[in-house]
Amino acid sequence: MCGIFGYIGEDDPLQTCLLGLEQLEYRGYDSTGIAGLVDGQIAICKEVGKLSQLKAKLTLQRLTIAIGHTRWATHGKVTPVNAHPHQDVQEAIALVHNGIIENYEELKEELHTQGVRFQTETDTEVLTNLIAKCYTGDLVQAVQKALLRVRGHFAFALVHKHHPQEIIAAARECPLSIGVNDAHTESIISSDPNAFLGKTLNVLFLRSGEIAKVEKGKVSVFDSQLRSLAKKTERLDAGTAAPSKEGFEHFMLKEIYEQPSTVQKAYLGRLEEGEVQFESLSEEFRTPSQICFIACGTSAHAGAIGALLVEDFAAIPSHYEIASEARYRILPQNTLIVAISQSGETADTLAAVREMKARGYKVLGICNVKNSTLTRETDACIFLKAGPEVSVCSTKAFTSQITVLYLFAQFLSGKRVSEDLKNVPAQIEKVLECAPRIQQIAKKYSRFNNFFFLGRRYMFPTCMEAALKLKEISYVNANGYAAGELKHGPIALLDPHFPVIAFCANHQTEEKIVSNVQEVKARSAPILALAPESLKGIAKIVDDVIWLPNTSDALAPFASTVAGQLFAYFVAKERGCDIDQPRNLAKSVTVE
Ligand code: M6R
Repeated sequence: MCGIFGYIGEDDPLQTCLLGLEQLEYRGYDSTGIAGLVDGQIAICKEVGKLSQLKAKLTLQRLTIAIGHTRWATHGKVTPVNAHPHQDVQEAIALVHNGIIENYEELKEELHTQGVRFQTETDTEVLTNLIAKCYTGDLVQAVQKALLRVRGHFAFALVHKHHPQEIIAAARECPLSIGVNDAHTESIISSDPNAFLGKTLNVLFLRSGEIAKVEKGKVSVFDSQLRSLAKKTERLDAGTAAPSKEGFEHFMLKEIYEQPSTVQKAYLGRLEEGEVQFESLSEEFRTPSQICFIACGTSAHAGAIGALLVEDFAAIPSHYEIASEARYRILPQNTLIVAISQSGETADTLAAVREMKARGYKVLGICNVKNSTLTRETDACIFLKAGPEVSVCSTKAFTSQITVLYLFAQFLSGKRVSEDLKNVPAQIEKVLECAPRIQQIAKKYSRFNNFFFLGRRYMFPTCMEAALKLKEISYVNANGYAAGELKHGPIALLDPHFPVIAFCANHQTEEKIVSNVQEVKARSAPILALAPESLKGIAKIVDDVIWLPNTSDALAPFASTVAGQLFAYFVAKERGCDIDQPRNLAKSVTVE
């Protein structure tokens, strides 16, 4: 789950690579590194930590060609030696890699018996040496031969000291795009075409099993049998504006405050005069007998809310599956698969999509990032239009996802619909106005290390999402739980040091959640309630309340979510955590 970048052309390869890596840092920030050629020899500079740390210690002079890497560690600890690029023992090749070589142990042993002595714990060093062993003068051939031995999924780029004018790239089930400018004076390789900042390029996407020879202004692509392929290109203008915090202390806070507008963007032009229209959806998507939402993390929580919405609005049986588990399930024919992903690059989600497509299911994508892999592999795609989400902790993408899912459920109902969704931006504004009070409350709760987040019906996935926010940026143990389940075991954990956050904004289950709150109070656990203004009585039972605007159950996740995001943000701030780039995480999780 790393970012790969490569450059050959008339701009300064080193500086272009650094710019590209800045855009790819969301894919991992355990370490970064750059390799290139100086006077016919490989030169490498790599550092543990973020790109800023590499820049501070950059020892490289002007390179004639460059490849770069930003790492999210899979094989091997976060150490300087395990950072990419990696070299073969002869120091002829430097290679950057995203993905996993599954049979690397077996290959390592084999290479070891042939005299290769390894310096690192990585699968990448094994791949590099395997390619070096297969090399007899033609780099493409060496890569093709090596890949016949390799199991796993990957994208990589390499340079060789005897081939100063070429970068070889290859991919198997991991994204890799290659862009060439109109004047044919430069070529760029990237895990994400959105990193081609400020360039207008003709871009091709490597498909699984393809190998590319990238030269200045020219790309030749081969299949796994080394047959030359004519690849279609797409014209892509990556724009010039790098995302900015616009005065906010963190991207997360900026993105939380963007939500009145991003929710609006998600329904604008799609909900008019009681009718829902999606530009990309034909009528055939209206009649599934069942729906299965697949996604990971925050997007999976959106899927869980989507399932409730579809059942409530359209009476179509629906459920959600965590993407990494979905492939093992049996689903009835005519089940529509809806894959949700902010990035469109999440490996677990893509693997499930491929499996479902191979089994003949129709797959609809809901995605934020244009040109991402998900958008190319699904039968149709609805875009969130939320703009780039930079903070690793997903916020605005979630509220845009549930906006689109709300519309989608209304679309499936086939009826004229209410336009109450248009009240959501104002409801979110109301919660944002409470930020100072939420900050005060968060300060009080920031000293605890364990939390339960409880909710029923729509508030169940909502509280799971809020708990995920807290744990990923504050490093505290926060678990979202169905409120009714607490008494079946977890209640044993409660004491005055184990607070409960009760999500009370689901009217249908109001009395039951109030009873659950009483059960918690009887065990002396501190209680914070997120409650609608109509539930006045709750203030007498709990220690603290964040008041939310009254709304229908189906719309309640919006305000409760925003309150939960602010709570997590202020707890993390109080605890001094790295809010936008929490430890051990990456924005886009591209390994299974
Ligand atoms: O890009 P995706 O929506 O597919 O990402 C899925 C999860 O990795 C992501 O939502 C993750 O859980 C976030 N860090 C949560 O804030």
